[in-house]
Amino acid sequence: MINPYASKQLTPLAVEDAERAAALRDEAESLPSLLLNSAAISNAVMMAGGYFTPLTGYMNAADALRIGREMHTESGLFWPVPILNQTQDASAIAGASRIALRDSNRDGHPVLAIQQVEAVETLSETDFERLADQVYRTTDPEHPGVKTFLDNGRTLVSGPIEVLDYSYFPDEFAGTFRTAVQIRDEIAERGWNRVVAFQTRNPMHRAHEELCKIAKETVGADGVLVHMLLGRLKPGDIPAHVRDAAIRKMVELYFPPNTVMITGYGFDMLYAGPREAALHAVFRQNAGCTHLIVGRDHAGVGDYYGAFDAQTIFDEGVPEGALDIEIFRADHTAYSKKLDKVVMMRDAPDHQKEDFVLLSGTRVREMLSNGEDLPPEFARPEIARILMDYYQSL
Ligand code: ADX
Repeated sequence: MINPYASKQLTPLAVEDAERAAALRDEAESLPSLLLNSAAISNAVMMAGGYFTPLTGYMNAADALRIGREMHTESGLFWPVPILNQTQDASAIAGASRIALRDSNRDGHPVLAIQQVEAVETLSETDFERLADQVYRTTDPEHPGVKTFLDNGRTLVSGPIEVLDYSYFPDEFAGTFRTAVQIRDEIAERGWNRVVAFQTRNPMHRAHEELCKIAKETVGADGVLVHMLLGRLKPGDIPAHVRDAAIRKMVELYFPPNTVMITGYGFDMLYAGPREAALHAVFRQNAGCTHLIVGRDHAGVGDYYGAFDAQTIFDEGVPEGALDIEIFRADHTAYSKKLDKVVMMRDAPDHQKEDFVLLSGTRVREMLSNGEDLPPEFARPEIARILMDYYQSL
């Protein structure tokens, strides 16, 4: 199987040993607590599951700033997005060397992890804004990822963590949530060698279905890992449980048996476009995938990124040889009325825009909210029904 990123072995930070976990829980009772924001929780959950191998904890200011500038940590590791424990107020943990990290996404704020504090540093406003600009290519607070980043605070609490559980994800998404360790195990059990990952935060329409099929065929993969984001989204995005149901239906009806693994990961959407695409590649390699599909406006939002910027970063920003996972670059994909099938536009050079069935996300939402059927060329009817039920329930 493909090696984990920059490592021979995954380094999940979840504490598996029951005695160690009990000792940490005991210790937590006497430690000062820091209430984590949702981004820091999802960073811990990703590190717990091995997705962020070889990281050992939250990054410090020097690493964050270097990643902002050069996409490398101080030790020279390629890494596209700082993995931070940001806070607006570190007074509760002043002077502490070990702290209990509490989960603000669950009732009662249970302890999620124990952190060995290496530094508590406050970025200057200039550095903080510049970092946002480097990672998100904008400092516009209307950008949902930038807004969260700016709201989370300029103070960084860095140092290694030991994680006690996976927050709300295993309960809320039982059957779909997986760690990188579990995905690697399942890939091995299935005897797959080449695995193409499909990142998604949306229900899958015919274009997405076909993209997976084209990618699988083109790279000669044994299977597709549909790997959906289960964490927080911006308002208006389709909630994960609706998307999960729609994707399950699509796979059941429209894919040959045993060719798709339906899985999800516990991370909040950054909407960081190219930088997030590079992070996606890192953690799909950690999950044992040999290929990642990167299509149009991958991890994008609004007009902040060019439609294929998330592909060019792999040529211009990711150093040669840093990643073993390969990128399947997909062109804009849509149903061709001329050919009567879904195609990538680069494979239909004689087509005009009008030859395709194209619907914007906004138009799709509008139609479903008005109870209008989506064209079958755009969405499978069984999937459209699930989405219609959701929109009609709002
Ligand atoms: S994302 O934010 O998770 O990237 P989404 O779930 O919409 O959003 O997209 C999943 C993947 O499919 C991304 O790689 C994206 O680039 C690709 N994609 C979505 N729609 C199309 C399309 N019509 N043509 C080509 N690629 C697409």
